[in-house]
Amino acid sequence: MLKGFAKYIRPHRGLFFLDLFCALLVGVADEFMPMMVRQMINTYVPDQNWQMMVRICIALAAIYLVKLGLNLIINYWGHIFGIRLQADMRRDLFAHIETLPVSYFDTHKTGAIMSRITNDLQEISEMAHHGPENIFTSAVMLVLSAILLARINAELTIIVYCTLPLAVLFVMLIRGRQLHAFEMNRIKIGEINADVETSVAGIRVTKAYSGIDKELKKFNHANGEYQASASKAYKYLALFNSGMIFFTDLMYVVVIIVGGMFFFQGKINSGDFVAYLLYISMFLTPIKKLVDTFEQIVQGATGYKRFNELMHVPGEQDDDGASDAGCLAGDIAFNDVSFHYGEKGEDEDDEKEQVISHLDLHIKKGETVALVGPSGGGKSTICNLIPRFYEIDGGSITIDGRDIRTMTRESLRRNIGIVAQDVFLFNGTIAENIAYGTDHAGMNDVILAAKKAKIHDYIVSLPNGYETNVGERGLRLSGGQRQRISIARVFLKNPQILILDEATSALDNATEMQIQTSLDELSEGRTVLVVAHRLSTIRNANEIAVLTSQGIQERGTSQQLLEQKGIYWHLYQYQFAK
Ligand SMILES: Nc1ncnc2c1ncn2[C@@H]1O[C@H](COP(=O)(O)OP(=O)(O)OP(=O)(O)O)[C@@H](O)[C@H]1O
Ligand SMILES: [Mg+2]
Repeated sequence: MLKGFAKYIRPHRGLFFLDLFCALLVGVADEFMPMMVRQMINTYVPDQNWQMMVRICIALAAIYLVKLGLNLIINYWGHIFGIRLQADMRRDLFAHIETLPVSYFDTHKTGAIMSRITNDLQEISEMAHHGPENIFTSAVMLVLSAILLARINAELTIIVYCTLPLAVLFVMLIRGRQLHAFEMNRIKIGEINADVETSVAGIRVTKAYSGIDKELKKFNHANGEYQASASKAYKYLALFNSGMIFFTDLMYVVVIIVGGMFFFQGKINSGDFVAYLLYISMFLTPIKKLVDTFEQIVQGATGYKRFNELMHVPGEQDDDGASDAGCLAGDIAFNDVSFHYGEKGEDEDDEKEQVISHLDLHIKKGETVALVGPSGGGKSTICNLIPRFYEIDGGSITIDGRDIRTMTRESLRRNIGIVAQDVFLFNGTIAENIAYGTDHAGMNDVILAAKKAKIHDYIVSLPNGYETNVGERGLRLSGGQRQRISIARVFLKNPQILILDEATSALDNATEMQIQTSLDELSEGRTVLVVAHRLSTIRNANEIAVLTSQGIQERGTSQQLLEQKGIYWHLYQYQFAK
């Protein structure tokens, strides 16, 4: 784990060591003052050596001035180091998330992924520089003050240090519980985040179904749980902080009593006595710092553990020996394909879970095959298997006779254009959204694509035309407009293989017919898999497959299927006989 972490520190090691070096010097700088005061009380004051007193003060001021510079470096460049480290890790994490398979996002909450990329990384970077800084300063201060104190009077030093195990014991007793409580806190906050995220995303549904009370109840529950866990965490925090302050106070008492006795017996003089008192605070500061750092390190380490876990979720990796698919002609064949969603491996032979079972389907180059059938039959699933969004359990899918697993995903997907049931637009301009997925598309190409998708006229009617921002997820556009933009996207991409999963379902009849002509045009000479509920749009398909949960029940041209008087015929009667 450390090795992986060192990889991120290495590029910024200059800053890292500068930070550590300065922290070390700050630790040393603090040790001067009690010694100087001791010298003053013991020698210069009785001697009334005014000159030396002034000199000492000037020296002290100079030391503090240097310390100011050092602290500036630590606080500024230390954080810069942290930020750079964080940025590097975030870049890698984001890049990795982009490679994760679609199935990962089926089962992981966006909120959780968000907190990985923000909170966790923040904590890691804080740990990465404050940790070593504080450990260094504290260690230096502890060791130096112990040496300096022992040089004044070893006996007294040992007695003072004897109270230390008590403090350590106390720290160990409370700290664990406190950390646990804060960890719970974080989990609860994560739940609140996830709640807010889904509530905001689903605000329309909430309003439409008068679900505000329900959302409030859900949220208040999570909020209440957070409150409870936070209260517990702060109970330990209060105990801990107050306890630590009490220990400091206790040490003063010890020094005052024992030191007073030593002073009485003439074992130490007044200067030593004062130096002792001053060192006590110098001595407890690093302990408190170490304890705080311990917490930071634990948090950073758990953050890093989670970072590592996510980084080790296998991304989509091309199979060994996979090569570029090049320009595919588009002869697609499903050979005995079985598939089910979820974890692979355990219950593979559980037939109930299979969404697709031993499916054979051939979409010849340049032909159009339509899938029809009841909802949930697996039509969209089949569409998702061609660009390899999911891995099949058995059988094979080939394009031009070549197993798609022997192609790099990127090159495979380059050959495929998808217009899906649910359209996703990115926050950005209309032009950007149309050009998404096509490198080096000029404005003229974008306009041409928009014209083909019958959206150009609408776009130019907008005040900002193609530069209009579509809003988050394209929410500023109507469903049909979004759909047409996604169709324009495919027109621009101009792929050999087309997958139309209810591409026109969001459109009114008139527009659907208009776009249908464009889609027919686009389909010309390409291989098309089309899913449609409205049978009028697929009447001309070369083959129609009726897919139910039992698999493909009927296949043939529209004419042939009508003659069979089976499921297709029933669907047809239902839609047209009215
Ligand atoms: N991401 C997923 N994770 C788990 N199960 C899924 C997922 N997507 C779909 N399913 C399940 O797989 C089955 C087939 O779904 P699919 O979306 O392929 O149906 P469909 O034929 O396209 O239906 P529709 O006509 O309603 O679009 C359904 O039972 C569905 O619950
Ligand atoms: Mg579907």
